[in-house]
Amino acid sequence: MVDQIRGEPVGVELTRVAKSYGAVPAVRGVSLAIEPGEIVSLLGPSGCGKTTTLRIVAGLERPDAGEIRIGRALVNTLPPWKRNIGMVFQSYALFPHMTVAENVAFGLRMRGVAGATMDQEVAAALAQVRLGGFGERRPSELSGGQRQRVALARAIVTRPSVLLLDEPLAALDRQLRESMQIEIREIQRAVGITAIFVTHDQEEALTLSDRVVVMEDGRIVQSGTPAEIYERPRTRFVSDFVGFSNVLDGRVAEGGRELGTVTLTAGRLVPVSLAPDIAPGDEVDVVVRPEKVWVAAAHEAVPTAGHAFPGTITHSVYMGALTYHHVAVEGVGRVVAMVPNVEPATSGTLAVGSAVLVGWRPESALAFRRNDPGARAAS
Ligand SMILES: Nc1ncnc2c1ncn2[C@@H]1O[C@H](COP(=O)(O)OP(=O)(O)OP(=O)(O)O)[C@@H](O)[C@H]1O
Ligand SMILES: [Mg+2]
Repeated sequence: MVDQIRGEPVGVELTRVAKSYGAVPAVRGVSLAIEPGEIVSLLGPSGCGKTTTLRIVAGLERPDAGEIRIGRALVNTLPPWKRNIGMVFQSYALFPHMTVAENVAFGLRMRGVAGATMDQEVAAALAQVRLGGFGERRPSELSGGQRQRVALARAIVTRPSVLLLDEPLAALDRQLRESMQIEIREIQRAVGITAIFVTHDQEEALTLSDRVVVMEDGRIVQSGTPAEIYERPRTRFVSDFVGFSNVLDGRVAEGGRELGTVTLTAGRLVPVSLAPDIAPGDEVDVVVRPEKVWVAAAHEAVPTAGHAFPGTITHSVYMGALTYHHVAVEGVGRVVAMVPNVEPATSGTLAVGSAVLVGWRPESALAFRRNDPGARAAS
């Protein structure tokens, strides 16, 4: 049994874990150390091995190779019920014929906890997920978000060392999902539990994680804080997966240092940030996020003098809090710039058809080697 000192979260460590289903490799050598009390999300597209990794930690799947440690204990051969974990899945899997309180109490009963102690623990867990007073209802009398909170209460009531969540919010509508993301994070902090959260939704991963682990094709391709993953993606795959970018193709003109220049296929020389292994002459894709592109009316003073490119707004998409301006830039191509709708407005009227200047800091334009097979396997 994994020992747990009440209130003391434990770490989880995977070392070169691999698992195939017949000839299909699902997880190919995953190594990952999760600190006690940390909430880490496994992020990646469908089929990249997130659920398999989680099920291996849970003991629901036996790895072909590698080691899994929970706390100091090697748990490879321990059955799930001896690992002291709590799990929440996409489908709530609540017992429909039981009340909310009975659902939450289930795991305690299985452990021989009963009577007043059980009632207290159930009430505490329900209070923790803000469902105090809902104990007597049936799951059918709850909203989707409330049901998922019951599932969460049921997972934490036994005071597990580690909480494993597999796309628990996927069935909820957007607004509810966003509020539940913040709530899960708050509950995880309050309980002080180590958590692994599986999702294919990049915003969800950025919102609720201490650390985001991006997976591709059974491997970890990058692990870092949400800001590191978003601002400094190491591969084109990671960059694409965690948000929209402008992509401009060209060839490296000047390099060898972290900052360099790229001659775009469209003609213009632009400042970029280069990966260490990129040299002059290499064909690259330059990716720039829309919020890193500034756009100003042509007569205005510009933030990055020397790198201001003239263009024309071809159309604008107003989205309330922000506007996306599509700008045709001579020698560059179409560039999308995101302008927040802040007060006071930072630039004059940016009407469709107006002449503007666009630009970006070289640090915000990341050059990745085009069609780099190595970039996919980098870890
Ligand atoms: N029980 C199984 N039998 C055979 N192949 C499986 C089994 N479970 C998963 N796989 C395969 O292993 C690979 C990884 O699957 P996994 O469920 O871990 O992906 P995932 O990242 O969780 O995807 P999703 O986002 O769709 O849930 C996929 O190719 C999948 O088809
Ligand atoms: Mg899955």
